[in-house]
Amino acid sequence: MEPTLSTPQSRLTTEQQQQITAAAQIICAGGTVAFPTETVYGLGADVTNPSAIHKIYRIKQRPADHPLIVHIGAITHLHYWAQAIPESAWKLAQHFWPGPLTVILQRNRRIPDCVTGGQDTVGLRMPAHPIALALLQALGPEKALAAPSANRFGRISPTTAAHVQQELGSEVDMILDGGACAVGLESTIISFHDDLPQILRPGGIALSALEAVLEGPVLLPHNGQQTIRTSGSLPAHYAPATPLRIYPAEQLWQRAVALAEQDLRILVITWSHSTQSRPALSQSIEQFTMPSDPVAYGQQLYARLRQFDRAAFDYLLVEAPPDHPGWLAVTDRLQRASYH
Ligand code: TXA
Ligand code: MG
Repeated sequence: MEPTLSTPQSRLTTEQQQQITAAAQIICAGGTVAFPTETVYGLGADVTNPSAIHKIYRIKQRPADHPLIVHIGAITHLHYWAQAIPESAWKLAQHFWPGPLTVILQRNRRIPDCVTGGQDTVGLRMPAHPIALALLQALGPEKALAAPSANRFGRISPTTAAHVQQELGSEVDMILDGGACAVGLESTIISFHDDLPQILRPGGIALSALEAVLEGPVLLPHNGQQTIRTSGSLPAHYAPATPLRIYPAEQLWQRAVALAEQDLRILVITWSHSTQSRPALSQSIEQFTMPSDPVAYGQQLYARLRQFDRAAFDYLLVEAPPDHPGWLAVTDRLQRASYH
């Protein structure tokens, strides 16, 4: 069947619509397409086609037991891919979709084993980006996009089409350019084991917003061993090539000076505008100030880490973010980026 764009999205240009039609044809033929979402760029393939799914694992160099998120074009499609959906999952989907929230639900037989790493659950989300939604619409209600972030396993997620081009350009069949991602960090992943909502990965939706909609507490991620494999829950992930360390403001400059004395080039990344004990900046110690608001910080983080990697510093020393729930996602990504 020829995929068609039945309801053209008013915000898309004719050229974008043509690209989306071409992208849908590639997906239906078993190819891979990188596409923008509001969080990060995804590397998509037809969820029902195991050979297309294997291409994703191969391109990402991702271990086969790390499940993929399935992107759907409407809330009602949840029924088509999942079963025994708890009331709280519906509530969250209705409130936050399209948006940066992934719900882990019991899968049904339409989802092949290779998408879930053999687990009986599947992660589903409806992304809030006009290009992603138009692509899903072009694919129709009986298809969905299995899509992890469009980067090599363990590395920084892409937040622009150029990032995808640089990292995976020659290996994907098409890259749809939808500009810079508005959220910049991956979706919040929530599970409902024993009807207890629990965040597996903090992300684009804040804990307080989830609790407000559910009118009850949401558990935070466990530290340590998890039974379910969430690659975002590996200690080392989302990592730049340059070693990154996190220090409280009071120790930051002292550490920078000590490293610079060993002839190393250091970038100090602050957010608080504290100039406490800051030495003179020099060839060997530079400073970059990130936004002091966690949403703006998260939006820039990955693009900045890529930029800092290119500048070939020996160390990135990051000022510890505030110990406040609004900073959970940024703190989580920095901690994983620092784990090497
Ligand atoms: O914002 C996002 O979520 C982006 C965009 C492209 O949608 N996607 C993304 O995908 O971050 P990925 O594959 O890089 O990370 C998805 C995470 C992985 O850590 C994976 O293990 C976890 O979701 N996941 C997927 N299905 C799961 C399941 N059934 N149970 C537990 N974790 C699951
Ligand atoms: Mg990823």
